Amino acid sequence: MQVTPLHPHIGAEITDIDLARELDEDTFAGILAAFNRYSVLAFPDQPIDDDQQVRFSARFGKLEKTSFAVGANNPYIYQLSNIDDAGKVLPPDSSKRNFLLVNARWHTDSSFREIPALASILSARLIPAKEGGNTEFASMRVGYQTLPQDRRDQLKGLIGIHHYAYSVGLFGETGVTQKELDALPPASHPLVRTHPGSGEPSLYVSGHIRMIEGLPEKEGRELAEELVSWCTREEFVYRHVWRPNEIVMWDNRCALHRVAHVPLTERRIMHRTTVAGDGPVS
Ligand code: OGA
Ligand code: MN
Repeated sequence: MQVTPLHPHIGAEITDIDLARELDEDTFAGILAAFNRYSVLAFPDQPIDDDQQVRFSARFGKLEKTSFAVGANNPYIYQLSNIDDAGKVLPPDSSKRNFLLVNARWHTDSSFREIPALASILSARLIPAKEGGNTEFASMRVGYQTLPQDRRDQLKGLIGIHHYAYSVGLFGETGVTQKELDALPPASHPLVRTHPGSGEPSLYVSGHIRMIEGLPEKEGRELAEELVSWCTREEFVYRHVWRPNEIVMWDNRCALHRVAHVPLTERRIMHRTTVAGDGPVS
């Protein structure tokens, strides 16, 4: 297995490995160490099916079950697809496209859960033929490290309130049901957390933050947005250009991500598994 960094601050590519096969303990330990260090791992040329993806993902921990029927392919796989059953690109005003747009704002997956996600594993099943649909990543550990000390002191003890109903609500009709939203009440997490994989401090902000405990709603949200902007300054962003059959996994505890514009004529299908966190954020 070969590990090659992709960007000065985040991401590495892993080659000479076959994720469709059962990985031995040493190989898995190597992947886990790279994951904890680089936050984003790209595995080119991995044509796997859903069962193989679920098996690989489950090596990292218990999997989250899908919450939103609009995007679910099976209980453990989100199918992020912009085409209909006949293979035609969905129109711009379709609820499924609106659902996908939630991923176009900087966020970290499942931050709206009591126990947020540890990792997401995304497999490119069909990528735009011409252009678009890159996925962008930024490190919240580097975001924290580069904050001036007085700013860090101000953030001490502050709690973000993450609420899926807020972030999905920005996009109109998405196909997410009221029952699904009712099952996801607001979740409170500190704005600064310790990354369990490295022991390092990290910001923990997300497009799912609706407000900050103890601050007026608008002021709190502006603070969260300012911290997201800080982490995602141009030179800190790694832009991943997908290749067919590629798998990319990221660390939701310390990395932000978003999908870049997908042209309306381009077809794109990605399958995602999600590894659940192992406890509340500390
Ligand atoms: C996700 C996500 C980005 C993409 O699957 O959680 O944000 O590029 N996806 O599809
Ligand atoms: Mn996401």
